[in-house]
Amino acid sequence: MDKIQITGGRKLHGEVTISGAKNAALPLIASSLLVKGKVLFSNVPDLRDIRSIKELLEDLGARCSCEAGTLEMDCSHVDKIEAEYELVRKMRASILVLGPLVARFGHAKVSLPGGCAIGARPVNLHLAGLEALGASISLEHGYIEARADRLIGNEFYFDTPTVTGTENLMMAATLAKGTTVLRNAAREPEIVALASALNQMGAKISGEGSSVITIEGVDQLSPASIRIIPDRIETGTFMVAAAATGGNILINGCDPEHIGGIINKLKATGARIETSKDSIRVIGCEQIKSVDIKTLPYPGFPTDMQAQFMALMSIADGNSVIHESIFENRFVHANELLRMGANISITGGNTAMVRGVKELQAAPVMASDLRASASLVIAGLVAKGTTQISRVYHMDRGYEAIEKKFSLLGADIQRIR
Ligand code: EPU
Repeated sequence: MDKIQITGGRKLHGEVTISGAKNAALPLIASSLLVKGKVLFSNVPDLRDIRSIKELLEDLGARCSCEAGTLEMDCSHVDKIEAEYELVRKMRASILVLGPLVARFGHAKVSLPGGCAIGARPVNLHLAGLEALGASISLEHGYIEARADRLIGNEFYFDTPTVTGTENLMMAATLAKGTTVLRNAAREPEIVALASALNQMGAKISGEGSSVITIEGVDQLSPASIRIIPDRIETGTFMVAAAATGGNILINGCDPEHIGGIINKLKATGARIETSKDSIRVIGCEQIKSVDIKTLPYPGFPTDMQAQFMALMSIADGNSVIHESIFENRFVHANELLRMGANISITGGNTAMVRGVKELQAAPVMASDLRASASLVIAGLVAKGTTQISRVYHMDRGYEAIEKKFSLLGADIQRIR
């Protein structure tokens, strides 16, 4: 199994270009199930999760062709409505085919996603939302089955804002009869990107980016050409890495408007941040100041950046309180950072106290999930000695060519087999 080996101590410098966003691409690719015809995507990242959703849609009968960052999906001939366990278990986001399948074919059978390293991650709100649109839902033998001759527009209130839940219902409601209003909807940039792509296909969605989204159902959607937005979490990861190493890097092809929460916190640590329309320069400082973090739904500080900030706070001057309020088990990386000499205690389950230390030491460590792997890379970049990170298949789910990008920024990093 591949490992990443890093010899720490080099300041990052130079330029890096951000890839298309995994979490925007996944619902967009699923949305092609709503269209009888071809949908062309550009700026598609080359990631394991993208290959997983493509494989899932191909299994349903979609025809896909990809070439250098573009992906053409043709779901005209989809003739299967069952997303099988063997494919869904690879990636929880496979649940995103549920809404489109039931909306277009009146019937969907999707394996219930199983356990997850970062929390329980139920899909009850996806199901309650589809029920509100008139679908009958049953759970049998590990599969969710949804049926509706035609979905009917309705109001639905999310108990808690859910990103993929909002996306599933928004996609389903595009082909429903009448108007759907989603309240307490998620507001992430990926939701806005999906709504604007669906509108390009002929949907009538308004209010995206706010907590109330209105969808007027239409009879069908049409082919379109869609560019995937830049990955805000990849952007944030490079920003934190630059700050942690005291480097000076220019991040191109990103959208600074999507990362206000990250910029705000990094500035408070002492880093200098200069933004333009689609680039960010990060200049690290001599002594990183400690800051407190609380993860929140967008536009708050993203849970997907919590692990990377914990690595940064490990070498800050002072104490930092990190509160994870989205997922109940998202501190597994803390135990690996401890092995590298960090001083972290988890208090009360969802709160971590990080007491900054002078330096981290290299150690063999293990990635437990996608963002945990990014935090270990950052720790490895600053640690004294050579760190080996195992289980990097987690990282390959969501970071395109990460070792190549860090290597171009001057890091001593390589993949070993
Ligand atoms: N929740 C429910 N019921 C539901 C759905 C969600 O209680 O039916 C709860 C969850 O348990 C959680 C909270 O709502 O406590 C928010 O979860 P959400 O549904 O928003 O998460 P998600 O849609 O499953 C997406 C991203 C995650 C990211 C979260 C939060 C995709 C494909 N995944 O997951 O990304 O952490 O939103 O921002 O968009 C990652 O990229 O590493 C990753 C985990």
